[in-house]
Amino acid sequence: MRALLGDDYDAFVASLAAPAARGLRVNTLKLTPDAFLARAPFALNPLPWLPEGFLIPDPHARPGRHPYHPAGLYYLQDPSAMLAAHLLDPQPGEWALDVSAAPGGKATHLAARLGGQGLLVANEVVRSRARTLVGNLERFGVTNMLVTSEPVERLAQVWPGRFQRVLVDAPCSGEGMFRKSDAARKEWDVRAIPGNAARQDRILAAAARTVAPGGRLLYATCTFAPEENEAVIARFLRAHPDFILLEPPSLPFLSPGRPDWLPPDLARGLPLERCIRIWPHRSPGDGHFYALMQREGEPAPPAPIAPPPSSLDRKAEALLRAFWRETMVGAMSEDGWIQYGDHIHRLPLAPALWEPLRPVRAGLRAGRIARGRFAPHHALALSLQPHQVQRTLRLDPASRDTHAYLRGETLRSSGPDGWVLVTVEEFPLGWGRRVKGVVKNHYPKGLRWR
Ligand SMILES: C[S@@+](CC[C@H](N)C(=O)[O-])C[C@H]1O[C@@H](n2cnc3c(N)ncnc32)[C@H](O)[C@@H]1O
Repeated sequence: MRALLGDDYDAFVASLAAPAARGLRVNTLKLTPDAFLARAPFALNPLPWLPEGFLIPDPHARPGRHPYHPAGLYYLQDPSAMLAAHLLDPQPGEWALDVSAAPGGKATHLAARLGGQGLLVANEVVRSRARTLVGNLERFGVTNMLVTSEPVERLAQVWPGRFQRVLVDAPCSGEGMFRKSDAARKEWDVRAIPGNAARQDRILAAAARTVAPGGRLLYATCTFAPEENEAVIARFLRAHPDFILLEPPSLPFLSPGRPDWLPPDLARGLPLERCIRIWPHRSPGDGHFYALMQREGEPAPPAPIAPPPSSLDRKAEALLRAFWRETMVGAMSEDGWIQYGDHIHRLPLAPALWEPLRPVRAGLRAGRIARGRFAPHHALALSLQPHQVQRTLRLDPASRDTHAYLRGETLRSSGPDGWVLVTVEEFPLGWGRRVKGVVKNHYPKGLRWR
């Protein structure tokens, strides 16, 4: 790196030793950035290029321990990672795919930009990580989604040319994580770089097959190694003449790609300076590499999606309707309900559009048939607004009850018996069930605060 960076090397090394800047991205599915700023419990400095992005200047602030976090009001994310959705720029109604999505930083941002219209497919090949991804998407209140756990080649078989926006946030040597993580520093091994690059070539080529004509493909890594960055893009562009590298936006903290760091034969004739490098010594973020590409061809409108006809057995349907009548406000939608074993989901699109894949999560997991009744799932609570529910228990962020609820404790509140949507201000935190003034806690055990 010393040889590559020359005069910048000392500043680069010093930046790796400095504490990581902490970023926060407001969930625009739940509130506007201004509405969040008006109630923000800690100081925030806006990112000038991203309305929903902020820095948290106070190193003592604990944004992960504020009730707004489990309510899904924000995602804590490195500011340089926030550029992904900004570059890919998904529009409501489109199909967006994130091929390596866990834990969900960039996927939750893509979902927010889709604004609840269209479809997000968030894929994570490592099953255990896919569960975390589901949790973060549910916390954000995302329902127009499929979460899959497939090799990228399999996605390309099922969905060739399907997506207007595709993100490849590739597994990499993680040099941009050195500042944050001792483990990343310890695990780094220069001998892993060629293997990483070969895997990145393979993932990117498979992902490219899912891009619709005129669609965008964004390649991202959090490493500085040119072998995993410009070299991957150079090989890709040579093998895929139907893709062009787009000019980056003009933002002061972006540095150009470095074709001069590649063997001349590999770089020759390609506009690799259009790749984007974010250096930790020149920006508040940890560092990232991006290459934004477009597939040639006339863009066609995205395939419309709509919930399929419902298919519930009679007992499940009766129990769901009873829950709706007793708990919700307004009519229950008649379409989209489907049963997976005991679980009831509401689907944004027909299973025929993803079969033969078996998603880890399809649409909204609304609840479960257990002990002769419908029990609402946590994801349903996080997808609602208080006016949609008959009984709510509105708590203040600083109240003892809010913290007690998040620890899994029983609350006391007067009012009619039945399911209660517990909220912090107007933002749902989860379910409780009230019987004679005692609200039994249904906040998921795995999420409880200690
Ligand atoms: C940089 S991380 C993704 C971070 C995520 N996009 C976010 O913003 O939170 C790369 C991901 O690629 C996954 N991965 C590992 N091997 C893979 C492979 N062969 N194909 C696709 N993804 C893979 C890792 O499990 C990891 O979750």
